[in-house]
Amino acid sequence: MSLANKKILIGVTGSIAAYKIPSLVRLFVKAGAEVKVIMTKDAEHFVTAKTLAVLSKNVVEKDFFDEAENWNNHVKLGLWADVLLIAPATANTIAKMATGLCDNLLLATYLSARCKTIIAPAMDLDMFQHSSTLRNLEQVKKDGVINIPAEHGELASGLVGNGRMAEPSTIFSFVEKSIA
Ligand SMILES: Cc1cc2nc3c(=O)[nH]c(=O)nc-3n(C[C@H](O)[C@H](O)[C@H](O)COP(=O)(O)O)c2cc1C
Repeated sequence: MSLANKKILIGVTGSIAAYKIPSLVRLFVKAGAEVKVIMTKDAEHFVTAKTLAVLSKNVVEKDFFDEAENWNNHVKLGLWADVLLIAPATANTIAKMATGLCDNLLLATYLSARCKTIIAPAMDLDMFQHSSTLRNLEQVKKDGVINIPAEHGELASGLVGNGRMAEPSTIFSFVEKSIA
């Protein structure tokens, strides 16, 4: 199994777990994969686009339109990818995926992509076990999205429970297996 020359599109959303994504990007790049990143607006509170651009060796896409009013082609991005990995995946983004909402570049790309979509949810335990979150997770799985289970452990809030995003090494192995 190899990720060499595979095209991995990573969607980063607004969870504290986003701080782990630079090391995940490095793992993919070291394995020879080509990596592009899309961030939601809220993801930028947790990790910088510059860091992800430098490590992925590609411009990070954030909006439908850039400052020069060029539009980012979500259809092209979706067709480019061999896999779309949304990590961390917030309750908000999973809910929008479950209902087909499409109000940012990442969601438009998700709806346009023909490749597999994999999510690595991350949230606090009460958000994670809320019936609406569980329902939305079930719905996206029914829609064909592959879920990398969140883990049990200490959460950023200080609480202990389910909802920790899987570690970068676990996500890496999961993507490697699913692409093979
Ligand atoms: C400090 C902080 C940490 C957060 N961590 C998470 C999280 O781990 N998971 C989650 O689902 N939402 C978390 N949120 C809430 C999301 O940032 C919020 O729902 C946001 O609208 C998500 O937008 P996005 O899905 O477009 O990125 C957090 C908010 C704050 C202020």
